[in-house]
Amino acid sequence: MTIDVRPLTADDAQSCDSVILSLPYFFGDPAGRASCAEAVRMEPGFVARVDGAIAGFLTLKQHFPGSVEITWMAVGAGHRRRGLGAKLIGRAVGWCASNGGGMLSVLTLGPSVPEDVSDGYAGTRAFYQAMGFVALRELQLRDWNDSHALILARAV
Ligand SMILES: CC(C)(COP(=O)(O)OP(=O)(O)OC[C@H]1O[C@@H](n2cnc3c(N)ncnc32)[C@H](O)[C@@H]1OP(=O)(O)O)[C@@H](O)C(=O)NCCC(=O)NCCS
Repeated sequence: MTIDVRPLTADDAQSCDSVILSLPYFFGDPAGRASCAEAVRMEPGFVARVDGAIAGFLTLKQHFPGSVEITWMAVGAGHRRRGLGAKLIGRAVGWCASNGGGMLSVLTLGPSVPEDVSDGYAGTRAFYQAMGFVALRELQLRDWNDSHALILARAV
């Protein structure tokens, strides 16, 4: 199995859409999927490939000169826990540093939101923490249907 990570291009968008469709628990909201579909067509990012086929991606947005946000990130259902996410974060850290950003941030579902699944956002939060992100605080967001988002960030 060969894994490589390269910059996201417009031609990758449909493959990224397919990655999202493989994760219905995490990307069940149609408005969220539409927003992600727009991001993979507009924003910079990286794709992780397994034997040449796209299996994961992330997108990036620089809201302010000193920091970059991971706006969307996913690894396809059949490819999780193989190190693709870690490789994508490594590239995001490099992109952030070379674009003048000192902090990389991400929003994900907060721990105060109850989940009755074994494979849910607790695993996502554990992933980011394993990647060196620190939880900063929870916020209730109107554009997340009033749900609670956790802000995490790490220095690059
Ligand atoms: C979160 C996600 C991007 C991680 O990508 P991944 O390729 O599965 O992660 P990696 O294999 O690189 O994991 C690196 C380390 O993070 C930690 N980690 C990853 N997933 C974890 C989980 N579910 N539970 C606990 N720790 C986890 C582990 O320490 C892991 O190392 P190990 O496998 O040697 O123990 C991926 O699982 C995913 O797409 N999840 C569903 C969608 C999602 O949550 N997207 C992010 C929304 S903000």
